[in-house]
Amino acid sequence: MSMTETPASSVAPSVDERADDVVRDGYFGRFGGQYVPESLSGALAQLVDAWADAQADPAFEAELDDLRRNYGGRPTPLYRASRLSEEAGVEVWLKREDLAHTGSHKLNNVVGQALLTRRMGKPRVIAETGAGQHGVATATAAALFGLDCTVYMGAEDVRRQRLNVVRMQLLGTEVVPVDSGTRTLKDAINEAMRDWVSNVDDTHYLIGSAMGPHPFPTIVRELQKIISVESTQQFTDQVGGRPDAVIACVGGGSNAIGSFAEWIGIDGVKLIGVEAAGEGVGSGRSAATISEGREAVLHGSRSIVLVNDDGQVKPAHSVSAGLDYPGVGPEHAWLASTGRGIYVSATDADALHGFRRTCELEGIIPALEPAHAVGWLLRHGCDELGEGAKIVLTMSGRGDKDVDEVVEVAGWDVGVAKAFGEDTGAGS
Ligand SMILES: Cc1ncc(COP(=O)(O)O)c(C=O)c1O
Repeated sequence: MSMTETPASSVAPSVDERADDVVRDGYFGRFGGQYVPESLSGALAQLVDAWADAQADPAFEAELDDLRRNYGGRPTPLYRASRLSEEAGVEVWLKREDLAHTGSHKLNNVVGQALLTRRMGKPRVIAETGAGQHGVATATAAALFGLDCTVYMGAEDVRRQRLNVVRMQLLGTEVVPVDSGTRTLKDAINEAMRDWVSNVDDTHYLIGSAMGPHPFPTIVRELQKIISVESTQQFTDQVGGRPDAVIACVGGGSNAIGSFAEWIGIDGVKLIGVEAAGEGVGSGRSAATISEGREAVLHGSRSIVLVNDDGQVKPAHSVSAGLDYPGVGPEHAWLASTGRGIYVSATDADALHGFRRTCELEGIIPALEPAHAVGWLLRHGCDELGEGAKIVLTMSGRGDKDVDEVVEVAGWDVGVAKAFGEDTGAGS
């Protein structure tokens, strides 16, 4: 069985025997596991060992901590967004991952996995990317650690996230456009997995989200957990008490699981994941996996997937390349199944509204991905959470990469042509 095009309906027999409420051996209840071809099991076993060794080695944590602070710019601030709060009717605290080096949360995961790559003695990394933020973060770490790097990116995403393609190339990474399928994130992952199967001895597949076969969902969660390690402390110091809700957008689910992790055990804090509903849930052009999907296997683990009646993966759609994925990490499927996580969705239109209002009210140009969380909050936050509720919302990335696409898709006249003197005789 190939992991790249694993039929979404294939299920290992032992799955139903697993307890629903126990996190063990790479399973989160029924979800997770390791659905891979024989040729990858050795590399995954090596990764399990490298991770366990690193966890037991204080030098690993010390180096990671140094990189996070002095290279990555952590801790990122928890910032009270007063004007957005007024508009939303709830008290909004933004966890500013957009201010981290490379402009998103993705570096948290990448520096940790780059350290693991070095411990495993591998000279090459590969990655998939949708929005280009994970690709840029991986290219950055590859430059820093002197690793060869190839990033697979759907051709449609190469078009809509051009700035990040150039950034990766400047950092010395080869960007391979993928022309198959919907030419988006799912197809990039398929290609990266094909590369990994062929080059597994000298290559680490640096997966960019809390998905894929065990141990990736656990490693990525542990590396992204720094978001909520910081936010729990910051909330105590700056606000006091506990928030009513923690909100984050969900693609594969890495910023959301990192944002939720330390709050999961704290009673009374709602954990709200916002998926991308594209043109609307039920429209056939959506990426709201948990809202619309079914249990199935995709990209090496059992989770919830957008599938048709024959069990084939359906194309996803979202204005945001980073959320345009028909699967979701298995821990989110589990949190949804136990009720600890609440998963909602925001349409393209909601996200564009959230994008624009964050620019206008806070002077922050957000990435389109977290603009979904803002869009949901502006539309539903007050009704769902109550006026004045205290909210921590992860601003998972900055929106420079999205500016061209937003202007094109939304058709906004932002006066750009005028500012550049189109009618005034440029150059005079
Ligand atoms: C800024 C930003 N936020 C969120 C995401 C979604 O990924 P994840 O769900 O893994 O956080 C992406 C993906 O590219 C992203 O670039």
